[in-house]
Amino acid sequence: MILSIESSCDDSSVSLTEIATKRVVYHKKISQETEHSVYGGVVPELASRLHAVDLPRVLEGTLKYIDRVKAVAVTNQPGLSVTLNEGLMMAKTIATMQSLPLIAVHHLKGHIYSLFIEKEATLPMLVLLISGGHTQVIKVESFERMEILATSMDDSVGESFDKCAKMMGLGYPGGPIIEELAREGDEDRFELPIPLRNSPLIAFSLSGLKNAVRLKIVSLGGVEEMTHRDRCDLSASFQKAVKLHLLQKSKKIFTKESIKDFAIVGGASANIYLREAFEQLCKEFDKQIHTVELKYCSDNAVMIGRYAIDAYERESFTSIEELSVTRSRKQESGTLL
Ligand code: KG4
Ligand code: ZN
Repeated sequence: MILSIESSCDDSSVSLTEIATKRVVYHKKISQETEHSVYGGVVPELASRLHAVDLPRVLEGTLKYIDRVKAVAVTNQPGLSVTLNEGLMMAKTIATMQSLPLIAVHHLKGHIYSLFIEKEATLPMLVLLISGGHTQVIKVESFERMEILATSMDDSVGESFDKCAKMMGLGYPGGPIIEELAREGDEDRFELPIPLRNSPLIAFSLSGLKNAVRLKIVSLGGVEEMTHRDRCDLSASFQKAVKLHLLQKSKKIFTKESIKDFAIVGGASANIYLREAFEQLCKEFDKQIHTVELKYCSDNAVMIGRYAIDAYERESFTSIEELSVTRSRKQESGTLL
């Protein structure tokens, strides 16, 4: 089995996955959403202190399987360095005590491999990753070769939902709250700009849209004056603009890339409204769509373990001295993940 650990942001998660069958034997996760909710976003110092308490708690149940563990996998980038370190320290300790090899996992590759939990990897695939930290389209040709085709110039999809929710006086994380309110709302009430609509750039940008939402809130008399209806309508109008932006740029990629399989992954891929829009788009372009089981869209150790199985088979290990939090370079399109 692989023992995997995820602590890149505000989820403490540990999992055990059988190497031969890819079966998930154990998975526990403690989310810190309630604790960060009062601040409207993740506070790194608080997150790291909570991981120090919660990681041992989610690890506890793995003890009885420890003799069957063949390697320890841990997320080492990208993420908050203070929280990544908590996971790394735990991984190094277990690896030392049990004389096990270590596998360093790139968090975004983990999200990509969430598509293959309890199954074989089927590649190549075009993947739209929409999370709290990233918006990217990645051409995943193989385990070794993942090329970024488009990336965000500013706020990511999840981040823009979180920030708009905060501006409207809603909680954290904003994604599920906005999606829920939008279901009751009129998406055509507020006219919001579709980002980069007239630009040939194949890239994503959401800070302008976020600002347009801020100005609408001001024109409604400020957050205190907003009614429930205003919140529902603004959520729906915002979500529609995000959808149209993602669709427009994805279409451009679809016309260039012949790969038949397309997937959406990451925390924001749990959004049903966005999923349905992409299902429709894939029909139009004769592509096969792939999505992730809802419980594995947001951060979890199972996806880290799934990636690590393929790394283990390639003996892609990192020594204890080398394993550290890696500062991710800025990822331009055209570069490899
Ligand atoms: O992948 P994830 O758990 O963490 C990162 O790697 O960043 O993604 C978390 C993000 C948050 O910004 C959250 O608001 C967003 O995913 N999210 C959603 C939905 N559920 C979670 N965004 C839009 N609609 C949702 N239903
Ligand atoms: Zn993530």
